[in-house]
Amino acid sequence: MALFSKDKEPVRQDGYTRVARLKEIRPGQVREATAGTVKLSLANVSGNYYAFAANCPHQGWPLWAGDMKGELVRCYLHRWQFNVRTGENISPGVPVCLPTYPVLIEGEFLLVKVD
Ligand code: FES
Repeated sequence: MALFSKDKEPVRQDGYTRVARLKEIRPGQVREATAGTVKLSLANVSGNYYAFAANCPHQGWPLWAGDMKGELVRCYLHRWQFNVRTGENISPGVPVCLPTYPVLIEGEFLLVKVD
């Protein structure tokens, strides 16, 4: 289930949108979210937050359903792994990267800029 559905806000003039409360994403966890109409994955890596594509660029499996290990998320379907900070695919022989998005913390909220 996507986060923050009750308090969803429109995109701000600077392009950022509130997508979650920080406490909703525990360290080592990846969650589904939306920013406007854009679906996202959000990850907490030791208190650092990252936003990246909701779906795997291979065959579209939801990355928010994958496993996290450090900065890496592993797609459940065929085990491709991506660095959630850089978007780099670290699986051998796979040149496809993952779209990532800038994040901002304001108080208890995580904001993402998707444009
Ligand atoms: S769908 Fe993610 S690795 Fe194939």
